[in-house]
Amino acid sequence: MSMVSSFADDVKIGFVVKQPEEPWFQDEWKFADIAAKEKGFTLVKIAAQDGEKVQAALDNLGAQGAQGVIICTPDVKLGPGIVAKAASLDLKLMTVDDRLVGPDNQPLEDVAHMGISATKIGEDVGSAIAAEVAKRGWDWKDVGAIRVSYDQLPTAVDRVEGALSKLKEAGLPEANIFDAPQAKTDTEAALNASTVVLNKNPQIKYWVAVGLNDEAVLGAVRATESVGIDAANVVVVGIGGSDSAINEFKKPDATGFFGSVIISPKRHGYETAVNMYDWIAEGKEPEKLILTSGQLALRDNFEAVRKELGIE
Ligand code: GLA
Repeated sequence: MSMVSSFADDVKIGFVVKQPEEPWFQDEWKFADIAAKEKGFTLVKIAAQDGEKVQAALDNLGAQGAQGVIICTPDVKLGPGIVAKAASLDLKLMTVDDRLVGPDNQPLEDVAHMGISATKIGEDVGSAIAAEVAKRGWDWKDVGAIRVSYDQLPTAVDRVEGALSKLKEAGLPEANIFDAPQAKTDTEAALNASTVVLNKNPQIKYWVAVGLNDEAVLGAVRATESVGIDAANVVVVGIGGSDSAINEFKKPDATGFFGSVIISPKRHGYETAVNMYDWIAEGKEPEKLILTSGQLALRDNFEAVRKELGIE
């Protein structure tokens, strides 16, 4: 065996995610696994849905002799605690998706991070919805926008504000924006929050919705269906493009889920894992901040877009 491959055998990297049941994170793990196979290191996948589980995950990795960890934290405010814990266990630390913040709510810039270019992708969501509203000839005064929100997460705020900026620019009145705060970032929580908004605003004729991800806006779509709003009067665009979006696009009849800006779990899973490996094995420090892009896909072209992005 060459020296390189016998060294790779000893490299162990943790990949900790906040929401293991979400297709995005399943895909991230899948692509990180491909990196592990290619490079010959061991990948340890751990789910950590709260702060206690994060601490336990890091302890567990330390005890196993892992040299590094990539984490999408359940709460960005755990930032300083995660940094301290990783340092005490001699674990190299990188974050993915959700960037850690300090006590002042500012990002911890010393921690290498890969996230999506949230504002830009949000703007793409808003532009896509605005174009479709124009195409359908809806008067903006009759349009309500559900802001499915999770404001404790900065990337979520950037995404929805990016989207709303484009809708307002197109003509959406500020008064027609309705906040629907999610208790957690899944479809059920978004459905509950959106239902409250719909029930309170029977005067609105057409609905659009924006949110953190596909799961969030799918909650809004399910809410419109449950109160009996015609799918033809609903236009939402999500962010993600994983199975949640694909399953919706594959339904025989179009729902209010008009499109999704597809982001790359391959870059977030494979590339972060390779970067961590290079850091451990070759001492090559990762870039401090990598922001990835997205591409709009609609019901009729999502398969082609996924292929183009190499993530089918
Ligand atoms: C956050 C969201 C995920 C996904 C990632 C992408 O973590 O919760 O659904 O959108 O960002 O970076």
